Amino acid sequence: MVTLPKIAVTLGKLELAYPTLMGSGCYGSGEEYAPFADLGRIGAIVLKSVTRLPRLGNATPRLVHTPAGMLNAIGLQNPGIDWYLARELHKYAGRPCKIVGSVAGFSVDDYSYLCERLAARDEIAAVELNVSCPNVASEGETFGCDPALTSKVVRAARATTDKTLIVKLSPNVTDIVTVAREAEAAGADALAVINTVRGMAIDVETWRPRLGNITGGLSGPAIRPIAVLAVYEIAQAVGIPIIGQGGIENLTDALEFFLAGASAISIGTANFTDPRIPERISAELQDYLARRDLASLDEIVGKANFALSTADQYEGDEG
Ligand SMILES: Cc1cc2nc3c(=O)[nH]c(=O)nc-3n(C[C@H](O)[C@H](O)[C@H](O)COP(=O)(O)O)c2cc1C
Repeated sequence: MVTLPKIAVTLGKLELAYPTLMGSGCYGSGEEYAPFADLGRIGAIVLKSVTRLPRLGNATPRLVHTPAGMLNAIGLQNPGIDWYLARELHKYAGRPCKIVGSVAGFSVDDYSYLCERLAARDEIAAVELNVSCPNVASEGETFGCDPALTSKVVRAARATTDKTLIVKLSPNVTDIVTVAREAEAAGADALAVINTVRGMAIDVETWRPRLGNITGGLSGPAIRPIAVLAVYEIAQAVGIPIIGQGGIENLTDALEFFLAGASAISIGTANFTDPRIPERISAELQDYLARRDLASLDEIVGKANFALSTADQYEGDEG
């Protein structure tokens, strides 16, 4: 019998049969996708971020197409943790893949409170911290843009659970590596790299912003090179696994992330156009590894050859 290459991965204590996670806010709880995709052939669904209180979300329009992806400004619309735990979560118990909860807060206390409540539930295999949110106590500064604030949030959440804690990093910073190091030191088991990149679009007929919220987050292929670079740099600096994400649409995109140092990948925007992309990537990944006589996905993680090709390389990036 032919043994297929191993593509199952372990992130902290989270064991996934497939190295694919469905990005928060892009897959619901899987219910709408189940008629079109085989949820038994994906690793995990990361649920939409939940907050302490219900949120109606931002003014519309909330989505704008861009040449290679989309801008969104949903505004964390969700029913709040009480409703969520009482009325929603039990429906996810029978899913044939793992369920990862995602929490979003506006204070350090929000994160520990939400993480503790969510992680206490059996349906939840791991918790992801969405730190791309404003801190009310420091003039709305984004948690994930400040290494010290990130550290506080992660420490507070870490103290509430032994389940796998994933910290999802924002690319909207000067130095994402420092934030990654702080998250690891504060107790993160894995890092999700990256969340959306800030952007905006303007309607030239009305002279109005095309998003109701004026600004939004860019996702899809446009941000892939930004994400691959972030994964590569963070992989040199931390010892915990990285879940690479940003514009993954096919096996080639996924391989870039694995070779740069990601142990698993997450697929968000691409699911909107083709919900079978995640399972196709896993099947093609096994073929790719088998063709190279590789026994497992581990054998390619971080293996891109980054040796500089010329002797006197210019130190900068541009030009
Ligand atoms: C419509 C939409 C809603 C999103 N909502 C969330 C969210 O609630 N929490 C979160 O951490 N990330 C959220 N994201 C970010 C995605 O999970 C993902 O990290 C990002 O879009 C990059 O991956 P992609 O290019 O494959 O979409 C959202 C993205 C989109 C497009």
